[in-house]
Amino acid sequence: MTTPLIDPFQRAISYLRVSVTDRCDFRCVYCMSENMTFLPKKELLTLEELDRMCSTFVRLGVQKLRITGGEPLVRRDIMTFFRSMKRHLDSGALKELTLTTNGSQLERFAQELYDCGVRRVNISLDTIDEQKFADITRWGRLPQVMRGIEKALEVGLKIKLNAVALKGFNEDELFTLAEFCAARDMDMTWIEVMPMGDLGNEDRLDQYWSLDDLRARLAERYTLSDLAESTGGPARYVRLEETGQKIGFITPLTHNFCESCNRVRITCTGEIYTCLGQEGMSDLRAPLRGSESDVPLENAIRDAIALKPKGHDFDYSRQEVAGQMTRHMSHTGG
Ligand code: GTP
Ligand code: 5AD
Ligand code: SF4
Repeated sequence: MTTPLIDPFQRAISYLRVSVTDRCDFRCVYCMSENMTFLPKKELLTLEELDRMCSTFVRLGVQKLRITGGEPLVRRDIMTFFRSMKRHLDSGALKELTLTTNGSQLERFAQELYDCGVRRVNISLDTIDEQKFADITRWGRLPQVMRGIEKALEVGLKIKLNAVALKGFNEDELFTLAEFCAARDMDMTWIEVMPMGDLGNEDRLDQYWSLDDLRARLAERYTLSDLAESTGGPARYVRLEETGQKIGFITPLTHNFCESCNRVRITCTGEIYTCLGQEGMSDLRAPLRGSESDVPLENAIRDAIALKPKGHDFDYSRQEVAGQMTRHMSHTGG
């Protein structure tokens, strides 16, 4: 019987987020800089290595696997990897196989994802205004994402829309986005913008819109009931009684949720980050590549989890940005 992954604060690690590429076909302003340099392809874990990495984590007790990027669906042949992960769903070891995507490639891949056992996808969409969408993603096209959403719904995927709450940008879409989601039976999550990437401190503070304020504004129109249920991620949910839909809040700044953290992240080059909001990481690629046996990899995973920090230090409360990290969000996939 394998010993489960437990960190020094007695948190069990059951959720693995794996970034399969650092590339993306958009350049969301809070996520990437305009001229990002991407990694040479040879640095990336191969699909076989990704399989071995994820399978090792599943053996160590991970039950939820989320594929991220960059944009995971721009990685060549990524469906081969999804197809292969299905065996862990079929065996019952894995309870959920899912992904976070910008939706741009969903029209093409939704059916195949469903066939691989994916039942739920999170789509990052901060605005449903075409011009604002083009501005925030720098060159994305909204109709392409909309077609992806329609296709995903058509094949039976459950969708949760992720919107980063940005002052002066999507404040005016609070109700429009709720209605857009309600009309399609989609849940939605609002996320507080985190001080990551290479923007100056001032920019982050200027953009920051607290979810306490967002929630209060939502309550002016809808009756909100707190829900105890969780998707196993950091969001806490309410139900809008008038529409029946769920709205989630991810509040690293206003309500820290690190105490119940159940996740670690693997980058596309095989580094493990045990906290999104800390720089600490260790390399898993060397033990993965260095031996045909999985034992060195398992040991390296346990060693990394033994160093998982208590939480992040993000803080805007003194009207300055504390805990800022130069690492881009796209590096660890959020
Ligand atoms: P569900 O399975 O639907 O609960 O998804 P999820 O919220 O776990 O994943 P998703 O990729 O949709 O993440 C939404 C946002 O939550 C992203 O902006 C992530 O960066 C953020 N997030 C996820 N985990 C953490 C965490 O441990 N700490 C912080 N600060 N943010 C997190
Ligand atoms: N703060 C909060 N959320 C972010 N995301 C990307 N960068 C940031 C940031 N600085 C979100 C994306 C996506 C998820 C994976 O992370 O919008 O929904
Ligand atoms: Fe791409 Fe997602 Fe980052 Fe936007 S948030 S640039 S869609 S990885």
